[in-house]
Parts: sequence; structure tokens; C-alpha cells
Amino acid sequence: MSTQISPFSKIASERKKVTTLTLKHKKQRAQAISMLTAYDYPTALALDQAGIDAILVGDSLGMVVLGYPNTLSVTMEDMLHHCKAVSRGAKTALLVGDMPFMSYQVSAQEALRNAGRFLQEAGMDAVKLEGGIERLEAIRLITAAGIPVMGHIGLTPQSIHQLGGFRSQGRSGVEARRLLEDAFALQMAGCFSLVLESIPSRLAEMISEKLDIPTIGIGAGAGCDGQVLVTHDLLGLFERFTPRFVKKYAKLHNQMVEAFTQYIEDVQCHRFPAAEHSLDIPEEEWQEFIKDYHLAERSIPIAF
Ligand code: KIV
Repeated sequence: MSTQISPFSKIASERKKVTTLTLKHKKQRAQAISMLTAYDYPTALALDQAGIDAILVGDSLGMVVLGYPNTLSVTMEDMLHHCKAVSRGAKTALLVGDMPFMSYQVSAQEALRNAGRFLQEAGMDAVKLEGGIERLEAIRLITAAGIPVMGHIGLTPQSIHQLGGFRSQGRSGVEARRLLEDAFALQMAGCFSLVLESIPSRLAEMISEKLDIPTIGIGAGAGCDGQVLVTHDLLGLFERFTPRFVKKYAKLHNQMVEAFTQYIEDVQCHRFPAAEHSLDIPEEEWQEFIKDYHLAERSIPIAF
């Protein structure tokens, strides 16, 4: 197994903190933005070391870490718990906390209060929320409080029951027009960036060209200003379902099963632990201990 780390990671460790302004400048310079999800400390450390621009603590947490069938069961407390772990690991990437279902839909005031918790309690730099024109009031209020908001349109997993499942969006003229209008409205309301999920590449490219703010695509083709994937999909850690747009860079689930199987065999065959995994006591200490033990055994064994 290779343990070499790319020389790029050294550069990453000396990088300046990525901000919403950094993403804006990257779009202006036509430099692609990289974003991945993380839900824990070691993944955040590794992503930061690799030089990722932004980390999304996505509510995909519910599916790939907590084992729910969709994202609807994820709570504010779940999100804050995992955001805290990520913020302890990543010091350079822009950290975006995903607002869970029902944390921003009830009222704009509640949305603001919950958005604030991501920054105040969990070390996030920004929040993300799903939806178009229907979210404008909440977005205006949150951004007016100085909290950067990333929008998310197209396939919005918190609305799967309304959408009829995990289905791609924007494939009719009417839907495409609605998405373009949503994109403009979200920019006007103050979003610093916009996730485009599962929409036709041509539409995503057009939205990206028309908007000033950077778009981050997932299943939206190469014409977006940046790309995001769910890290567990990219690593091959989540085997239940893999969307067509995912590129797998590793097969960690298989590697985990292989490693666990070897461990079980080693334990059963007494190959683990070996001498190098065990502690020793210096010989003279041991001899003294044994001598004392035998003496005690001969007099009052119970006292030993
Ligand atoms: O929750 C998530 O991981 C997301 C990404 C798929 C954009 O929203």
C-alpha cells in the first residue's frame, strides 16, 4: 500500500484561508472551484491537506453516514455535531454547513436563527439551503445578518416527495426557464454561490455564464464554475446506490471488508497481536515481581 502524499499537499498546507471572495475571484479568472463533502475530523484533515477549495458538511450525512433512506430525518443537532468535527480538522477550506429539512422552511426568522448556529456554534463560514424563489425572504434575512448563503437548485433532495423521487430536473422548456429564473432570483437575494444538481449540462452552462456568482455543479456537466461530489461516492465507501454522474476514485468499501476479514482471520489464528504489537516489562522487574509473588503465595496468598 502506497503512503506517498502528492507534493501539492505541501502547497495546500501553506495556503491562505479560502473565503467567499476567493470563490468569486476564481470564477472571474476562470479557475475551476473544487468542493467535496465531509462529516468528520479525519476526512476534513485529508481534504484540507489535499488542497480542496470548499468543504460542504452536507445533509447527505443522513444517507452516507447515518444510514437513513434520504436526507429528511437529519436534524439541526446532527448537523452541528458533524460541522464541529469538520471545523476542528479543516483550517483552510471554506466551510459550508447544509441547513437540514425544516430548519429554514417554517419562517425566515427561524431560518436566520438556525443559520446563525452554524457559524456561532459549529465553526462554519457559510450555510447552504435548497430551493428557488420560495426561499428569497429567508436568504435576504440571513445574508443581511452577514451570513453567506449558498443556494441549491435542480434536484433538491429535501423535496424528493414533491419531485417524485431522486429525479433529474430542468429537462423541459418550462422547467429550464423556472430554473434560470430561480438562479437569477437567488443571486439577487444575496447568495454568494449556487449548487446546480442533476440538470442538463447545456442549461447549467448557460446559468453559469449568465450569473456573476460561481455555480457548483453535481451531475450538471463541465460548464459549471466548480464541481462537488459526495466524498463517500468518490471513495467508493457508499455502496447502496451510486448516481450515474459520480466518478469513483477508490473502492474503500471493498478495501474495508478485505481489511476486516484479514483481521478476523488473524485473531482466530492467533497471528494478531504479534510481538511488535505487545508491551513488555524489563526482565529484572519481572523477576522481582515473580519472587515477591512466590513469597506472598507461600505466606498469605490473599494479600498479594
Ligand atoms: O448534502 C449534500 O451532500 C449536498 C450535495 C450533494 C450538494 O447537498
